[in-house]
Amino acid sequence: MKSLITFEGIEGSGKSTQMRLVAEYLIEKNVPLLITSEPSGTDIGRKIGGILFNRGHHYMCAETEVFLFCAARSQHVREMIMPALKENRVVLCDRFSDATYAYQGIGRGLSLEFIKLINDYSSMSLRPDLTFLFDLPVEIGLKRAMERNDLLKESSFSDRFEREHLDFHRRVREGYLSIYKSEPKRFCLIDATRNIDTIQEEVRRRVADFINLRN
Ligand SMILES: Nc1ncnc2c1ncn2[C@@H]1O[C@H](COP(=O)(O)OP(=O)(O)OP(=O)(O)O)[C@@H](O)[C@H]1O
Ligand SMILES: [Mg+2]
Repeated sequence: MKSLITFEGIEGSGKSTQMRLVAEYLIEKNVPLLITSEPSGTDIGRKIGGILFNRGHHYMCAETEVFLFCAARSQHVREMIMPALKENRVVLCDRFSDATYAYQGIGRGLSLEFIKLINDYSSMSLRPDLTFLFDLPVEIGLKRAMERNDLLKESSFSDRFEREHLDFHRRVREGYLSIYKSEPKRFCLIDATRNIDTIQEEVRRRVADFINLRN
């Protein structure tokens, strides 16, 4: 069964919002699900995330970063995702391998060949069956992320990635778009500048078609 569905895009593009809403829809339809995210989908991954996102770690080198994300993915795939797929659950995952190519590969400039090697090893060569790419200008995404942090009273806690320069985020956006262009069939490219409900309608339609859900 085709059932690993990933949600990708730059900071504040609406991944978590859209994944939560489509999960509500699938739960209502009694679709067996695993709702998860990277790097925090396991206890170990959450601890690794604490190291990765800590603003105090601004001096972390890109090589350390990529190994930490891949370490979290190794645990996540083996502990959570593979077992769920074996039980025929649909897995909804907020960020996955494409984020490593976009952020550490194209954003940070690490070798894409090396990333492929360690990512295939970490992910047991598991590939998403369907990937939503939420695309929008970085200025809009970052503004949304900042407003969200303000609402959560966490404005001073914007993480190590949110504090990167605009150029970095622009490279990440272009990186995602280049992955999309190299594998358009796997992707559903979403214009994320639209309102939440309009986007969600499109996401629900695509997911329902994809898993052959009858209304
Ligand atoms: N289409 C939209 N229009 C306006 N605001 C939106 C839209 N989608 C999400 N938001 C708001 O923008 C903020 C960021 O959304 P969300 O947390 O879903 O993004 P994200 O892609 O998961 O971000 P991050 O990469 O930081 O986890 C939230 O406050 C959310 O309510
Ligand atoms: Mg999110």
